[in-house]
Order: sequence, then structure tokens, then C-alpha cells
Amino acid sequence: MSKTAIITGGGSGLGQSTAVRMAQDGINIAVVDVSEKGGNETVELVKAAGADAIFIEADVSKAEEVKNYVDKTVEHFGSIDYFFNNAGISGSGKYFLETEIKEIEQIVGINLLGALYGLRYVAEVMLKNGGGSIVNTASSAGVIGQDAVVTYSATKHGIVGMTKSLVAEYAKDGLRVNAVAPGPTETPMVKKFFADNPEMKENATGGIPQKRLGTPEEVAELVTFLLTSKAQYINGEVIRIDGGFTSTK
Ligand SMILES: NC(=O)c1ccc[n+]([C@@H]2O[C@H](COP(=O)([O-])OP(=O)(O)OC[C@H]3O[C@@H](n4cnc5c(N)ncnc54)[C@H](O)[C@@H]3O)[C@@H](O)[C@H]2O)c1
Repeated sequence: MSKTAIITGGGSGLGQSTAVRMAQDGINIAVVDVSEKGGNETVELVKAAGADAIFIEADVSKAEEVKNYVDKTVEHFGSIDYFFNNAGISGSGKYFLETEIKEIEQIVGINLLGALYGLRYVAEVMLKNGGGSIVNTASSAGVIGQDAVVTYSATKHGIVGMTKSLVAEYAKDGLRVNAVAPGPTETPMVKKFFADNPEMKENATGGIPQKRLGTPEEVAELVTFLLTSKAQYINGEVIRIDGGFTSTK
């Protein structure tokens, strides 16, 4: 029987690339996003790659909408085998004391609470069915300190914490939970961030030993490996995919 994955933030960037990559392996995808346009685009790409897909509109910072995307996926596909808990925003890139409280609440709401709500409801379904595999999207900013991303960094360090601690509770019941920590990767989010803050692009690329940004396809390959391969003994791991960026810090 076909396997099913939920991908949040599936309408763009890392989520969209991963949806297409997993579809090439015949995995059905529930594409979750606030953007109907992006979500529907991914559904079409998944179908063109030969798998089935549905779009579920949800704002992951709202617990009831998270419960709804989980329920709808089970209703439609019957199970959840894989979960790419990925939706996130970068914020404005302002220094911390120039950041509005509203922006702090928004970043925490989406990146941290949204990820926790997803884990809360998805893990419940997976554990009822004997287990499953999850990848959370952290960031280089989740493993090192950087300026102009204090709130973002707090949420991504939080992703690392929830990844490790969930394993401590539920690995024995068949749950695998890992995180990926991409460095700057050429997605729409990063393109916009660097367009708004051009001086940071030069800093970012110059500081990467491989002297280039990552690609969404490279991250999609890693996520697919962690979720679906026979590497069933990798658990609670945070895998950096950043051209050597954080290894030199
Ligand atoms: N691109 C990078 O360089 C990079 C590096 C490290 C980590 N990340 C992380 O990767 C993840 C994906 O980012 P991306 O680069 O693909 O960005 P992106 O902007 O291309 O895609 C993010 C998607 O999430 C959706 N989204 C935003 N808020 C949402 C919400 N409240 N509910 C549901 N969906 C929502 C957007 O509509 C969009 O489709 C994020 O968690 C980001 O922090 C990205």
C-alpha cells in the first residue's frame, strides 16, 4: 500500500521540493500551507511526478487548524507514515531591540508553536498505528548564534530541543524524529530576505566554505533519506546541510 506524508509549508521552497522528491518514490502527499496558490501548485507537481496529493489550507500557528490538517489527511489517505514539520518564517532581519513585539509573537507562533502543535497531533496518530518518521526543519541558526536573527534563532534552537526530547519519550514506541539544519538555501524565503538585506547575502556566501548557497533539491534529498530510507537507527539527530558553514564557527 502507498505511504503518506504530511508536509507543512509544502507550497514553496524546501517543502515543495521535498514533496516532489517524495512523490518520485510514489509517496502520497498532504500539502499543508497558508498559501492556497502555492499549495495547489505543489499538488499539481506531485501528481505530475506520479503520486497522489491533496492541499489542506492551514495556519500552523493555530492549534485547531493543525488538528484539522491531521484529521483531513487520515480521512483522505488512511494513515500518516511520514511528517515533514517544516513551515516557518524568517522575520525581518532587524536587530533584536528594533524588533516589534508583534513580530516576535508571529515568529514564535509559526516556527515554535506551529511545530509543537504538529508534533502533538501527528505523533498521536503515528503512535496509535505503531510508529512513524518525522523530520523537523531547524536551521544553522538553530545550532549556532548569529546576529539579526535572535527570535528566529530561539525558535530553531527550540526545534532541536523538541526533536531530541520527543525521542527520549517515544523512540521505544516506534517513533523516529530527526531535524535538518540547512544553511542559507536558495528558496523564495531566502531570496526575499537577501533582497531586503543585500549586505547579509555577501556575508552569508563569503562565510560558507563551499562558497555558494544550498539548493532546495539538496535538502529534499536529505529529508527523504531521513524519512523513508532503511536507515532506521538514526534518531534524535540534527543533520547540518550547510556547505560547511557551521563547522567553521
Ligand atoms: N531557505 C533557507 O535558507 C532556510 C535555511 C534554514 C532553515 N529554513 C527553514 O526551512 C523552512 C522552509 O523555508 P523555505 O526556505 O522553504 O521558505 P518558503 O518561504 O519558500 O516556504 C515556506 C512556506 O511556508 C508557508 N507558511 C508560512 N507561514 C505559514 C503558516 N503560518 N502556516 C502554514 N504555512 C505557512 C509559506 O506560505 C511557504 O509556502 C522554514 O522553517 C525555514 O525557517 C530555511
